[in-house]
Amino acid sequence: MPLKIIDHGSRDYDKMVNLRLEVLRKPLGLSFTPEELEKEKQDILIGAFEEEDLLACCILSHVSKETCKLRQMAVSLKMQRNGLGAAMMLFAERVARDAGFSTIVMNARKTAVGFYEKLGYKTDGEEFVEVTLPHYLMQKRIF
Ligand SMILES: CC(C)(COP(=O)(O)OP(=O)(O)OC[C@H]1O[C@@H](n2cnc3c(N)ncnc32)[C@H](O)[C@@H]1OP(=O)(O)O)[C@@H](O)C(=O)NCCC(=O)NCCS
Repeated sequence: MPLKIIDHGSRDYDKMVNLRLEVLRKPLGLSFTPEELEKEKQDILIGAFEEEDLLACCILSHVSKETCKLRQMAVSLKMQRNGLGAAMMLFAERVARDAGFSTIVMNARKTAVGFYEKLGYKTDGEEFVEVTLPHYLMQKRIF
């Protein structure tokens, strides 16, 4: 399962936006603004492919010298619960470490907290609402 960095504006990036729309936004009746997507030029974009098909993706955004934020974690509906999300998280952690970050933070959907806990992430603070859904701040030291 090739895991790789995706270039902003590429064909693979279009696939990534489509996957995120299908898995994360359309179920909530939401989309992306052009400004949101433009800002992603500064991010590290990660995808898991099977030949030409993008099966999973996530984003690492710079927060500070030490910390990056994991965002937009999505595994295609037909591939969920097959170990792909966990494999992509391990790859994303390696990429983050190589980029010099020592901590990953995220706003995790409440429904996904158990998934991240299995990977060593801990909740921090009270539940809050984002994109209409309950979330928790989670974080992990990656070395
Ligand atoms: C949440 C998500 C990223 C997990 O990826 P995945 O490929 O389905 O998960 P994996 O198969 O790699 O699961 C790894 C482990 O976590 C567990 N797990 C997976 N999803 C879980 C969940 N939602 N809650 C609790 N545990 C979960 C699996 O059972 C597995 O456990 P095991 O190691 O004991 O067998 C994926 O299901 C997804 O995209 N969901 C919809 C969008 C979403 O919620 N994104 C996250 C936003 S913060």
